[in-house]
Amino acid sequence: MADEAEVEQPAVPAGEGAQTPALSKSARKKLQKQERQAERKAARKAAEKERRRADVERRRREWEEALAAAPSDEARAEMVAARRETRRERVGRRAEERGARAERLRRAAEGAGQKVVLDLEFADLMRPNEIHSLTQQIMYCYAVNGRSANPAHLWLTGCSGEMATHLQRIPGYDKWNIEKAAKPYLEAFEDRKGNLVYLTADAETVLDDLDMSKIYIIGGLVDRNRWKGITLKKAAEQGIQSAKLPIGNYLKMSSSQVSMMFLPFIRENVGLPYYSLCCVHHC
Ligand SMILES: C[S@@+](CC[C@H](N)C(=O)[O-])C[C@H]1O[C@@H](n2cnc3c(N)ncnc32)[C@H](O)[C@@H]1O
Repeated sequence: MADEAEVEQPAVPAGEGAQTPALSKSARKKLQKQERQAERKAARKAAEKERRRADVERRRREWEEALAAAPSDEARAEMVAARRETRRERVGRRAEERGARAERLRRAAEGAGQKVVLDLEFADLMRPNEIHSLTQQIMYCYAVNGRSANPAHLWLTGCSGEMATHLQRIPGYDKWNIEKAAKPYLEAFEDRKGNLVYLTADAETVLDDLDMSKIYIIGGLVDRNRWKGITLKKAAEQGIQSAKLPIGNYLKMSSSQVSMMFLPFIRENVGLPYYSLCCVHHC
């Protein structure tokens, strides 16, 4: 039963807002906090957009001034040609990088990459902003993985409903070199159940090294630890192994801040002595 002292009376005249549910004091405070956060975020985004626009405008102006200051038409033509060449080289470099990345991901999919599953069966337990945050992290993970010299082969399992809708909105998502399955990982890997290892901060076993024959599962859950122990419980109930990564030894981060991790990152970026993991802060 709700605490009556906490329940606020509707501030609208009877008749107009008779259907509006009363909010408790703490729910109202929470809502106000969320609104303030959303406003700050929108202001940051607008400022960033304005900064980028001003930057483009400044570069355009500088270019036009440089052109106007050129001593002759010939010099101007040379400047234009040099600029075109620089652009052409940049486009070429990007195409090369894209090709190399596609090749690395292809090799990973053919068996060279550590198999990593992002378990997306928790959408019902997350708030809309948490699903959004998870979607952003998946995007980031995919990008970091693609840049790695030894990428993992990533699976998204339990990818349906609300979660799939959010992912579908990512530009280029359909072309990602990643396995996408609407079914749970237990079904996707039913013939390899013994190789599944759920990574969870609550496990007893510490994972000091990765094993290429294993399939590591990461909980796709942004919950600020509202659902403490949920992944360990899930693994235990399903009869699959679990293990924790010694993140605290390398990063000052609590497990509730680690909302998504995956493997080919820290060896290159933080210097873990073994094949590496990637942590993404969930804010
Ligand atoms: C924000 S955490 C979710 C916490 C959630 N309450 C739970 O029970 O897993 C997201 C995921 O990061 C992974 N994770 C976080 N810290 C970890 C650690 N120290 N070792 C292994 N996995 C970790 C787990 O896979 C976890 O499901």
